Amino acid sequence: MVTSNKEKLIIFDTTLRDGEQAPGVTLTVVEKLEIAKQLSRLGVDVLEAGFPISSQGDFEAVERIATEVGPLMIGREAVGTPMTIAGLARAVHQDIQRCFDAVSKAPRHRIHIVLATSDIHLKYKLKITREECIARAVSAVSFAKSLTDDVEFSPEDAGRSDQDFLCEVLAAVIDAGATTVNVPDTVGYNMPAEYGAMFKYLIANTKPTKKAKEDVIWSAHCHNDLGLATANTLAAIMNGVRQVEVTINGMGERAGNTAMEEVVMAIHTHPSHFPVYHTIQTEHLCRISLMVSTLSGTVIQPNKAIVGSNAFSHESGIHQDGVLKNKLTYEIISPETVGANSSNMLILGKHSGRAAFRARLQEIGFGGIDEETFQATFDSFKNLADSKKRVTEQDLIILLSDRVASS
Ligand code: KIV
Ligand code: ZN
Repeated sequence: MVTSNKEKLIIFDTTLRDGEQAPGVTLTVVEKLEIAKQLSRLGVDVLEAGFPISSQGDFEAVERIATEVGPLMIGREAVGTPMTIAGLARAVHQDIQRCFDAVSKAPRHRIHIVLATSDIHLKYKLKITREECIARAVSAVSFAKSLTDDVEFSPEDAGRSDQDFLCEVLAAVIDAGATTVNVPDTVGYNMPAEYGAMFKYLIANTKPTKKAKEDVIWSAHCHNDLGLATANTLAAIMNGVRQVEVTINGMGERAGNTAMEEVVMAIHTHPSHFPVYHTIQTEHLCRISLMVSTLSGTVIQPNKAIVGSNAFSHESGIHQDGVLKNKLTYEIISPETVGANSSNMLILGKHSGRAAFRARLQEIGFGGIDEETFQATFDSFKNLADSKKRVTEQDLIILLSDRVASS
């Protein structure tokens, strides 16, 4: 919900870049185009379409998304602009040029540059000093800025980098023209309070000389190695972040990235806790979740928050009885809000009680049976449920036809 004193939270979706880095996932160009179109409808602000230098296929996918999806406005009334199409580049001129060649077909485009800043990465991976790191970052951002206005810089492994060094790097890239500074917890190492406090410190102590730091967007990018990606992202928002980098279903490297649906629905459920609003059309969340899962071949765990198949199901008798009396008893989000199928939310199993059983019989057209038949069918159902995890409608119909035939 938009209120006057709230700032817009930019939703940066990286399903097609960091998400595709999930082990075993490869999407074809056509599949990426389909997902990109749905992300546009969903109301995503920035779409990171790929890493153009990494392969000819990735270049083509980013270029086609920029050309074919970049201009689309369908369903984007709440956002008011087409998506910005971003591509990733290392801090190398050749990468940056290739990225620009692919994304520049979109009316709004961004070059996203990554360069590691933690001592572990500088020493063992890049084999450069801190001074060389700053020089490389500035050269890369300046070159990107000569090609386009919209430049994002990410100090990779920021979550384990020295914070005073990060302030120096970020001040230098802001002076060189970066408009978004993203602070990734690349290895999912940070704790929520720590990640939030890091933004507070960086925002207070990064001192560019040519530009006000208030003119840049601070961004969070979390990985889920400790299961804290969503909590860390929310803590970042509370400490000044106005862009979050997320994927559908939390798909991504190792344990994945921050799940878009979780961040969006946390803000939706607790608007008064956050200084931001978003323009995601939440009713499309389950559909796009299913699409990404099917096309990428990644199964969503049943108890996954918001989009898992059990996210709105109730099995125990006490819960089913409560929900039948009033949904508010056990539902903090209505299934319709995220486009979840609201039928069959009462799972019939051994924990189910009479109320849910009666409701399901009504749903399948057996609401009028007499009390004796009801009781006998309920007893048979309980026996069956002891040996079967889920009792289906098919099972009920068989139980009922036996009873109705013998009565
Ligand atoms: O996790 C990471 O550090 C990244 C960067 C490219 C932002 O994905
Ligand atoms: Zn990442």
